[in-house]
Amino acid sequence: MSQSNTPALSIENVVKNYGPVQALQGVSFDVKKGEVFGLLGPNGAGKTSLISIIVTLEKATHGRARVFGHDVSTHPREAKLNLGWVSQEIINSGFFDVEEILKFHAGYYGVSERADRIEYILKGLSLWEHRKKKVKQLSGGMKRRLMIAKALVHEPGLLLLDEPTAGVDVELRMKLWDFVEELKGKGLSILLTTHYLEEAERLCDRVAIIHKGQIRAIGGTRMLIEEWSRKKVTLRLTEPVQSLMHPDLVKGSGQEWVFLTAMTKTLGELLQELKLNSAHLNDVKVDEGSLEDVFMRLTQEGKA
Ligand SMILES: Nc1ncnc2c1ncn2[C@@H]1O[C@H](COP(=O)(O)OP(=O)(O)OP(=O)(O)O)[C@@H](O)[C@H]1O
Ligand SMILES: [Mg+2]
Repeated sequence: MSQSNTPALSIENVVKNYGPVQALQGVSFDVKKGEVFGLLGPNGAGKTSLISIIVTLEKATHGRARVFGHDVSTHPREAKLNLGWVSQEIINSGFFDVEEILKFHAGYYGVSERADRIEYILKGLSLWEHRKKKVKQLSGGMKRRLMIAKALVHEPGLLLLDEPTAGVDVELRMKLWDFVEELKGKGLSILLTTHYLEEAERLCDRVAIIHKGQIRAIGGTRMLIEEWSRKKVTLRLTEPVQSLMHPDLVKGSGQEWVFLTAMTKTLGELLQELKLNSAHLNDVKVDEGSLEDVFMRLTQEGKA
């Protein structure tokens, strides 16, 4: 089942109940081949529950998940061979060194010892100089990067990253993302969850915003920003005015007036609606919307 149009990951109407807790309430989306897809949502939104179903740690109450066409509940072996998973919790055994762990892991997946692959991954994750260290000698950020290395050893087509950069410092985070982009360039498909929205904006081809077990919006980051965010336009006038009437007006008096407008509205259109022109303006300040605005808008409303 490797037709070129088969998605790397297909999630179809997945429901997950833990007793009375409805963690996922009918979630559907695809991750296309070669795509980086971000699953963004506040604590408790259901992100890890979905990943646990994909890696067969949990069973979906309803619906199904397929990895390159392999149903995870009926063909778990085929599905798991095609994916690499980095869990949110740091789990490593402490007695072996970094290189030994990767060799064992390669053996576990039945791929014979791949010295060149292991070197490539360790260098890409800035772990090469630490390869002779035992796990207990590694820092938290190094342990997390070791987990990513393990997930990549068997060359999976799909990588699941659940908060991969939590506890990784800024410089190494940048390096990690450069490496992720390099892997993407080689055709790897990636599903990632992160609380760093500016990283998601930079890295992801598409994102889904999940809240209380439901997908609230899905699409390219630019499209979501245009659809859900507002830009803040501050007009500084040459002369004070008594009042300006406009539905997008937020506040203002005298010479300074602030508007929140649709991302698609041009300054020219706004001025026309206000019956102003550039001769009335001393200065204009425009703050573009961001993915963070979209996230706040879609996850704050109705928050208990
Ligand atoms: N094993 C479990 N048993 C019972 N409830 C669970 C279990 N795992 C998760 N939950 C509940 O399911 C809901 C979703 O949790 P989940 O861990 O999927 O959220 P998340 O989006 O990964 O959050 P975070 O950003 O904090 O990692 C929460 O209400 C959580 O308490
Ligand atoms: Mg989680």
